[in-house]
Parts: sequence; C-alpha cells; structure tokens
Amino acid sequence: MPFPLPRLTRRRLLLGGLALSAYGLGLPAAASLAQDTEPRRLTAGPGEAHLLEAGRPATRVWSYDGVTPGPVLRVRQGEEVNVRLVNNLPQPTTIHWHGIRIDNAMDGVPHLTQHAVAPGESFDYRFTVPDAGTFWYHPHDRSWEQVARGLYGLLIVEEPEPAEGIRDFAIVADDWRLGEDGQIDEASFGHMMDWSHAGRIGNVLTLNGQDLLEILVRHNAYMRLRLCSTCNARVLELRIEHPGVQLVALDGQPVEPRALTDGYIRLAPGERADLLLHFYLEPGSTAAITEVSGGQRVEAGRFVYHPTDRVIHRSEPYLRLPANPLPTNLDLGSALAVELLMEGGAMGNLAQAMHEGEMKDIRSLVGAGMAWSINGIAGMTEAPLFTAVRGRTITVDLTNDTQWPHAMHFHGHHFKVLERNGTPPEFEAWKDTVLLDRQERVKIAFVADNPGKWMIHCHMLEHQAAGMTTWFAVEA
Ligand code: C2O
Ligand code: CU
Repeated sequence: MPFPLPRLTRRRLLLGGLALSAYGLGLPAAASLAQDTEPRRLTAGPGEAHLLEAGRPATRVWSYDGVTPGPVLRVRQGEEVNVRLVNNLPQPTTIHWHGIRIDNAMDGVPHLTQHAVAPGESFDYRFTVPDAGTFWYHPHDRSWEQVARGLYGLLIVEEPEPAEGIRDFAIVADDWRLGEDGQIDEASFGHMMDWSHAGRIGNVLTLNGQDLLEILVRHNAYMRLRLCSTCNARVLELRIEHPGVQLVALDGQPVEPRALTDGYIRLAPGERADLLLHFYLEPGSTAAITEVSGGQRVEAGRFVYHPTDRVIHRSEPYLRLPANPLPTNLDLGSALAVELLMEGGAMGNLAQAMHEGEMKDIRSLVGAGMAWSINGIAGMTEAPLFTAVRGRTITVDLTNDTQWPHAMHFHGHHFKVLERNGTPPEFEAWKDTVLLDRQERVKIAFVADNPGKWMIHCHMLEHQAAGMTTWFAVEA
C-alpha cells in the first residue's frame, strides 16, 4: 500500500463460546416486505452489539431495529418496498437505497430529494425495485458518523425464479474504529486528519457484526455468497480461501461468470460482489475468509464443513443470473461527454477551490472542513454538474489527480466501465460505484433515463463530507 494503515486487530484463531450461524441462516431476521399493507417499520436508534471476542464488552452502536447490520430486507424483483423509517437517533437522518434505480423522491438525499427526518419523526419510503441483486441501505445525512456507528443493512432483491438448490448467504463487512474500552472512537469523528487522508480506517473488522463469522456448510452444497462492504473508507481486500470461487455479479448486476484468482476480491466502500461456491472439499474441512489490506492476513470468517457427509463426485458450479432491465443501448457517438476531475487531499496540489460560491485558498477551505474538489469546486452547488435530456447517453471521464483512492458512486443509475487508464477492462460490468486508485483515470458511460436530481460522490464518507461531492440532473 502507498500509505500506512492502522492495523486490524489480530483475532484469535480458535473459537470459544461464539455463536455459530445455523446452516440455513445468514443475517438476522430476514424480513419479507408485504405489499399494499402497512409499511414495515424500521427504527433507527441506539443499540448494542457484541463486535469483539467473547468476554469483551459490548459496543454501543446506532442501529436499525436494534441490530447491526440492520435487518435484511428481501423483496422480489418488480415488487414494492414499503418502509417507514422512524428516527430515534439524537440527530436527523434519512435512508438512501444504494444501487437501486429508484424513484428520485425516494433516494434519501437531504437537501436534494427530501428533508432530513428529525429526531422523533418518521418518513415513508415506497418504491418498486427494477433490478434483482444485492443492494444496501444506509443514512445519507452525516453518513460519515451514522454509518461508522453501525447504521446499514442489506436490501436483497430476488430474481423472479431464484436458482434452485443454491443456498443464499449474505456477508456485510465493516471495519470499526474502537477504543481500548471496546467503544466507538468518537473523539476522532470529524477529524481533518482522516478527512484529508484515506478517511476513517477502522481497527476491528467484523463480518455480519461478528469478530469471527463461522458458516457451517455441507459437502457438495452450493452457495450464492453476497458480499457487501459498508466500511467508511477502507478498500477491503478479501480472500475466500476455498478453491473454485466464481464471481457472478457486481454491484447487483450479473457478470459473465468468471473464476476469482486465489479467491481474491477487492471491495471498495459501498461495492457488492456475488460469488458462487461449491463445497466439494472433504467433510470436516475448513476454509478461511481473510482480509489482507492491512499487510497481514486477518481471519475474519471461515466455512466449516459438517464432519460426516458422504463424499460425492465433484461437479463444476455454474450460475448465470438473468440480466436486469438496464438501458444498455449506449449511443457513444452522440453522447454528452463530461469531465470529472478530482483534486485535493494530503500530498495533493490543490491551491484553491470554489466553496459555497466563493474562491477560497487551501487554508480557508480546510478551515471550512473542505479538503477535496471536483472540477475545482468543493462541496455541493446550486447548479448541477450537468443536465441531461432523458434518454441521453452520458460519458464521464473521471481523473483521480490525488494521492488517495476514491470510490465514486452515482445515484439512480448503473454505468458501464469503458476504460481504465485508456485500456478496456478485462470483462464487462455495470456498476454503481467505481474505485479509482491514486492518479488513475476511468471512463464510464450510462443512459440517463431516470429523471431527477442525482448525487455523484466519493463513498469514502469522509471525502464526501470534505467536498468530494456533486450532482447531475435528468430532465423529466
Ligand atoms: Cu451509498 Cu450516496 O451513497
Ligand atoms: Cu474519496
């Protein structure tokens, strides 16, 4: 890594008294969302979580319905989500449905699509989901604090005919910054050191809120493993240390199935990957899930085979997910070409930028909590970066002229990555979040077919708060 990261805590290799996840269960309380009935209440409020090994104190968190990750919301493709957010937090909040090509009024962005929901108040989110896949929800007000405190959950949209005989299992990965007392390090919230560097990098990694997640599996079973990173800023480097892992979807959108080399997958904040596993090792085997971004191998979870299953001959796993109804008909010839230049941060060369309508030098920018700019502007603006006629193809040339990686997220649309540093990617993927390494250039394209006001921002949440954010408009 080009910069030093605080190390993740090394966890015990052996278990003692840890809850094992049951064979059939992934995350707590998979809730189905009934249509045309009362909204499902989702309460944001204080809670407690056992993030550390047994015997260590519980951590005071913010959570949905008292659990972090929040309840898994499951819905069928094309169905309606009907959720009443109840705010029991001491500050305003909203819910953004990350990756859903949603009705703009339901996108959950304060000041742009709705008023933030004040403490004690509620807001009804009601929308249909056009795409099947793995999505997530999180606050969009002070998300750098609210997500870091544990507010997030998965929204899983099932295919109309889910593949048979494949167990569905979801993992939410997060790195927490905890003090010695096991509590969230609150003193560092809003610290310019994080905001102008990598962002808030945690020191404790959890999968599904657990120190070491154990997943019991049966010999010869298949699993669709949905991975989601809810880290504020760390780019996770996960290894599924089991042979034959295949990648089948990214950011909720199917990809041509492909083998993951050494089970390695990099997940930037907000990104998701769906994998297919076939558990063909001997009964009694174990296979670790590790994370290596801190320069050491941290075991975060493991598959544990049932000890006595009958061995069956190995067959090749295969899962081709049906395509979603994305507008894939890119008209590159007459596209609206947009440049998006990212500058700033520590060791950058940003001397000045516009902020709230004024040109400011770097000192006064930092004084205002700003450290990053897009096209010379720090933070949100009255006017959009661009306005598109509905149906127009847009290309965006993103240039990361900084010394830090950034995960750029577009709301309301999925885009195709056309080029990285001028070279086409290895395989086609439709994404809602794309990682740019330092000094990297990425070219993307999408059809702006969803009317409304949509954010573009870095999903390193401290970077977003410190200026790396803008928006675009699609005419009705
Ligand atoms: Cu997942 Cu605008 O965020
Ligand atoms: Cu960033």
